[in-house]
Amino acid sequence: MNKVVVMASGEGSNFSAIVDRGIEVDRVITDNPNANVIKRAEKVGVPVFAFDRKEGDRKYGSGWCDRMVDESIPEDVSLIVLAGYMRILSPYFVKKWVDKIINIHPSLLPAFGGGCHAIKDAWEHGCKVFGVTVHWVIEEVDAGPIITQRAIHKFDDDTLESITDKIHRVEHYVYPDAIKKLLQGET
Ligand code: GRF
Repeated sequence: MNKVVVMASGEGSNFSAIVDRGIEVDRVITDNPNANVIKRAEKVGVPVFAFDRKEGDRKYGSGWCDRMVDESIPEDVSLIVLAGYMRILSPYFVKKWVDKIINIHPSLLPAFGGGCHAIKDAWEHGCKVFGVTVHWVIEEVDAGPIITQRAIHKFDDDTLESITDKIHRVEHYVYPDAIKKLLQGET
């Protein structure tokens, strides 16, 4: 049986989209005890492993959170799904789980990778085409092999808000689609 772990630090709308598409999530791991994803997970009965990254780093040093995360991943995990996880994973973690970690990024990578403001950066750059990318995670941020992408064209009446909204809506079907295919061995 497939074992999917979702790692998220914030809102958790992608987590909900994944669950709503019938993908069974074994657990959610978050480095932010105030993340809304916790409420979303509790609502659908998915166990949450929450750590306070800032507090832990301050008390125990910077490797602490990564060790906690690592210990929370079941050995027989099928897929580790990053969905707005706002911490760069340690090289040790990435090496250990290589070929099992995927991420979604709100741009057409390799454009506008490596930051937290990809949509705004693309908007300010004057892009006419936006998009989302699902990719394998490697040590270099947002640089792993691409699994799938979708382009979103900007219309004359689009605003940063409307484009942001469209991108998130596209994420919510592209990510579950990609996960389903990976779990079925189709990609
Ligand atoms: C998404 O836009 C995703 O592309 C990026 O982080 C955001 C997470 O949103 N990596 P949510 O927490 O799933 O609502």
